[in-house]
Amino acid sequence: NTPSLSRPPVLVVTCQLPALAQQRLEALTDVEVRQHGSLQSMPRAALLGALADADGLICVLSDRIDAEAVQAFGPRLRVVSTVSVGYDHVDVAAVQRRGVRIGNTPGVLTDATADTTVLLALMAARRAKQALALAEGGGGGFVLAGELGSQFTGKALGIIGLGRIGCATAARLLPFGIARVVYAGSRAHAERATPLGAEYVTLPELLRVADIVCICCPLTEQTAGLIGRGALASMKPSAILVNTARGAIVCHDALLEALDAGRIAHAALDVTDPEPLPVEHPLLRHPRCTVLPHIGSATEETRSAMANLAIDNALAGIQGRPMVAEVGE
Ligand code: DGY
Repeated sequence: NTPSLSRPPVLVVTCQLPALAQQRLEALTDVEVRQHGSLQSMPRAALLGALADADGLICVLSDRIDAEAVQAFGPRLRVVSTVSVGYDHVDVAAVQRRGVRIGNTPGVLTDATADTTVLLALMAARRAKQALALAEGGGGGFVLAGELGSQFTGKALGIIGLGRIGCATAARLLPFGIARVVYAGSRAHAERATPLGAEYVTLPELLRVADIVCICCPLTEQTAGLIGRGALASMKPSAILVNTARGAIVCHDALLEALDAGRIAHAALDVTDPEPLPVEHPLLRHPRCTVLPHIGSATEETRSAMANLAIDNALAGIQGRPMVAEVGE
């Protein structure tokens, strides 16, 4: 099904890109760009309709490229380029069975996401949510024994998933005086762990010893619901849990129970399941749960780099060239 040359390739883009990448997209001459003109992603029906005639798709993680979307692929589609490192929203096997290549954006968001992980860890440890509420309510001022958090000096850091973001998080937190770094995951990574002095342990051991638990692994069949009742019960009552990976790795009902029962000290989540959480969700108002709206990679620099990489991948896919980052390659 070689695309006919009678019209330029059509590149469907499901939302507006950050300014510099948007300018680049608008200046492309060798493709016809059909873009949803909003910061929010294209409605589902519009996406399914647009796929029929597309040669390439640039999408984001709120666009589900599932079996239904794959059914809607037209014969010309050659590439799905997601503006994200994670691709759990893409049914990889179904897409690849259709001969469509998948691009993602590893590497360029490592620093921003690790920064956010540290931000959340500090917010949790220093009870920033309560302190902000106190100050904004006109209370506070110096209270000798009030609003006491914990500090990282001498503490054990547990990283679930020692990939790029996990390593960058550990490297940022070590200078805070962390005494021990442990990590868990599908296998040991001596080459990454050695410079950080990190020890490979089982997940139960990590949860037992860590004061700060950072979830930095992808969402897969193996990690969905990984942090449930049992896992939370085995953590220290003084521990904090930080999730900047994917919401579905943590069972939210179990987390709420654990916070209510004082089984852990604080949870800080950049990601939730679903996103956004319904406005009445009790985790949003819980004094010991901090929730951010998936801003891990949200800096001008990083989101522009992600969008540029996604454009590169999409053009390479449409033109049949090697991609900068291709899933499964
Ligand atoms: C990703 O790219 O997968 C991140 O979650 C975006 O912040």
